[in-house]
Amino acid sequence: MSFRPICTLDDLWEGEMQVFEVGGREVLMVNAEGGIVRAFDPICPHQERELIDGTLDGRILTCPAHLWQFDIDSGEGVNPTGCRLTAYQVRIEADQVLVDLPD
Ligand code: FES
Repeated sequence: MSFRPICTLDDLWEGEMQVFEVGGREVLMVNAEGGIVRAFDPICPHQERELIDGTLDGRILTCPAHLWQFDIDSGEGVNPTGCRLTAYQVRIEADQVLVDLPD
């Protein structure tokens, strides 16, 4: 694992989510309400739909396929519970966002 630059805060405004690629890996970056910046695998843990096609409402990300919902702060499923997004650690240095990805 190592932290790698993935985007800047200018690339990801509060209330937005985007997929960025680093080192051949796609990462879903989310800047949720309150400036909560998180990084996730971009694929839903239910049936592998692209989460970027979902909606972000406050801290809740809803998958477009079957409407499973996840808390962006923790990555935990809120509807249903008992599931979670694959999350990566995020570090912000000045305006630069870095993500800790597997090598
Ligand atoms: S694939 Fe995401 S809820 Fe079913």
